[in-house]
Amino acid sequence: MTLRTLESLGSLAGKRVIVRCDLNVPLKDGQITDDGRVRASLPTLNALINQGARVVIVSHLGRPDGAPDAKYSLAPVAQRLSELLGKPVTFASDTVGSAAADAVAGLHDGDVALLENLRFNPGETSKDEAERQSFADKLAAFGDALVSDGFGVVHRKQASVYELAKTLPSAAGLLIAAELEVLDRLTENPESPYTVVLGGSKVSDKLGVIGHLLPRVNTLLIGGGMLFTFLAAQGHKVGASLLEKDQIDTVTGYLAKAKQLGVEIVLPTDVVVASAFGADAEHQVCAADAIEDSPWGASGLGLDIGPDTAARFAEVIRSSHTVFWNGPMGVFELTPFAEGTRTVAQALTEVDGLGVVGGGDSAAAVRALGFNDDQFGHISTGGGASLEFLEGKRLPSLEVLGWQQ
Ligand code: 3PG
Repeated sequence: MTLRTLESLGSLAGKRVIVRCDLNVPLKDGQITDDGRVRASLPTLNALINQGARVVIVSHLGRPDGAPDAKYSLAPVAQRLSELLGKPVTFASDTVGSAAADAVAGLHDGDVALLENLRFNPGETSKDEAERQSFADKLAAFGDALVSDGFGVVHRKQASVYELAKTLPSAAGLLIAAELEVLDRLTENPESPYTVVLGGSKVSDKLGVIGHLLPRVNTLLIGGGMLFTFLAAQGHKVGASLLEKDQIDTVTGYLAKAKQLGVEIVLPTDVVVASAFGADAEHQVCAADAIEDSPWGASGLGLDIGPDTAARFAEVIRSSHTVFWNGPMGVFELTPFAEGTRTVAQALTEVDGLGVVGGGDSAAAVRALGFNDDQFGHISTGGGASLEFLEGKRLPSLEVLGWQQ
């Protein structure tokens, strides 16, 4: 079975089409700081609008606790969507209540409504299948069909992406189809040299993907907060830097396995160490095996990869034909610790082949650092989803759309 695409739903003119997007965008003081996921949703929405469908968009934002919480409202997203689509977007202040029912009933052909955050309802993320189904049934009353296009949530078994897709005639949207096309190229005969760059704070989030990728890649570059667990596994002291002590043994095992497989795991040789966490903190570059020799001794904090490491990573990336990058190299939000991430991003724009940025944080990082999306081969909208894809895990909310890995 292959993925059911939009065409499989036939003509949608005049039909009420629920579109499950991933509009989980970062917000600061009620303002969207990176609208990449909103823009990525536009091709499917425009295709449906142009067909004359009545478009009912649903999404989650953040992780509210199954009840309304103003800081996770999708209202700012409705406004941005309306600007980008160039037409009004009716915003319903609930998801399956009377506001949503009124908004849907008021739609004419080609109109668009956005319903409030799905996760304000406990049924969306419930562990209980019957509760999820009951919430999906309420959503289903608003649509004649479902277009599932939230790639960032396809690894979740949640009501709007799983049960709803079984309840209504359903198909994948254009974003999911585009994401799968690129990610397939990373798993089906990727052109070598194939390099994976992993960063971000938690090594425990990445262990699955490291284990799965080791036999498939030529080089693994490790930066971000997780690098300190690797340094500790090599016997180095890391001061007060992020460290997941309980993962040291697993990491040691991966280092040994990599050696056995002939895969090069490149670890930083220098890091930027700071006196404290903050943009104004004193900081200096230290050798990765001498972090505690900084003026701040055991209280020094590693907050970025150092310049030698960044240059080495950039060289490896530039000479690869396939590169997947997930996770910032340092605390890029603070200017003094953004250089490692900037250097890696720049190198990725120069790859002669396929360079993929995976995940919300890395995508937000490259945009915050002034890069444009079209400088990269692909920017995936899915963080956890793209990692689980590369791990070879089963993705229930893709399988429900007919897809098999
Ligand atoms: C993401 O940000 O990766 C997606 O929106 C999924 O969010 P979740 O991890 O809260 O399910």
